[in-house]
Amino acid sequence: MRFEGKTVVITGGAGGVGQALVKLFAAEDARLMISDVDAMRCQAVAEQARAAGAQAEYLAGNLRDKAYCEALIEGAAQHFGGVDILLNNAGIIPRGTIEETTDEMWFTALDVNLTAVFFLSRAAIPYMKARGGGAIVNTSSVWGIYPGPGHVAYCTSKGAVAALTKNMGRDAAPFNIRVNAVCPHEINTPMIRTGFERRGLDPDKAIQELNKTVPLGRIAEPEDIADVIAFLASDQARYIAAETLEVTGAKPVSG
Ligand SMILES: NC(=O)c1ccc[n+]([C@@H]2O[C@H](COP(=O)([O-])OP(=O)(O)OC[C@H]3O[C@@H](n4cnc5c(N)ncnc54)[C@H](O)[C@@H]3O)[C@@H](O)[C@H]2O)c1
Repeated sequence: MRFEGKTVVITGGAGGVGQALVKLFAAEDARLMISDVDAMRCQAVAEQARAAGAQAEYLAGNLRDKAYCEALIEGAAQHFGGVDILLNNAGIIPRGTIEETTDEMWFTALDVNLTAVFFLSRAAIPYMKARGGGAIVNTSSVWGIYPGPGHVAYCTSKGAVAALTKNMGRDAAPFNIRVNAVCPHEINTPMIRTGFERRGLDPDKAIQELNKTVPLGRIAEPEDIADVIAFLASDQARYIAAETLEVTGAKPVSG
C-alpha cells in the first residue's frame, strides 16, 4: 500500500491511462480526486473506485479553464485535508503539420497539454509544501523529446511539458517535492484508437501492425504506463526528481 492515506489528483481520469491510474491508486488505498471533461464518464469512474472501497471524489470540467484547474486542487484539499500527489495525465492530440494547424488546434493543445499543468501545479505546490513534500508526475510523450511527423502542436506542447517538468523539478526539490514526467511511446487507449478510426482503419488490426514495430513486441497497455507513473509518485522513486523517463518498449521515434 504505497499510497495509503495519500491524496492524489488525477486529470484525464476517464481516459485510457487515467482509468488505469484510478484503479491502481484506489487499490493502494489512496484518496482520489478525479478530473475529466467528460462528466458522465468521470462520475462513472469515481463510482467504480468507490465500489472498490476507495475514497473517491470527482470534479468534472474543462482544463482550458483556469478557474476549474484551481477549483480542482482546492476541492481535493477541502475534501481530504491536503494534496500529496498530482498526476497531470490529461491530454489531446491534434494532428497536422504547421500549415494544417489552425489557431484553435494550436491554442487548444497548448491550453490542455501545457498551461493546465502550470495552473494545477502552481495551485498544488503550496499544499505539498504544507505537508512537507509531495510528488507531481506529468505526462509528456516521447514525441515531445523526438518529434514524430505531422503533429506540430502536440509535439511542441509535450516538449514544453518536459521543459516545465525539469524547471519545476529543480525549483521544488528543496521542498521535498519531486516533479518528474513520463514520456510514453504509443499506448493502446482511445486516443490512438480513435485516430485509426478517423483514418478509416480497424483499430485492432492497426494496433496488431503497430505491435510489429516495437522491439518488445507490442505497444504499451494503459497499465504499463500507470505502473511507471505510480512508481515515480511513490517513495521507491525518492531520489528521482526533475527527470523525464522514456517508456518505449525500445521503439525509437521514426518516420
Ligand atoms: N495514447 C498514446 O499513444 C499516448 C502516447 C504518448 C503520450 N500519451 C499521453 O498520455 C496521456 C493520457 O492519454 P490517453 O492515451 O489515456 O488518452 P485518452 O484520450 O484515452 O484520455 C485523455 C483524457 O483526457 C480528457 N481530456 C481531454 N481534454 C480535456 C480537457 N480540456 N479538460 C479535461 N479533461 C480533458 C479526455 O476526456 C480523456 O478522458 C495524455 O497526456 C497523452 O497525450 C498518450
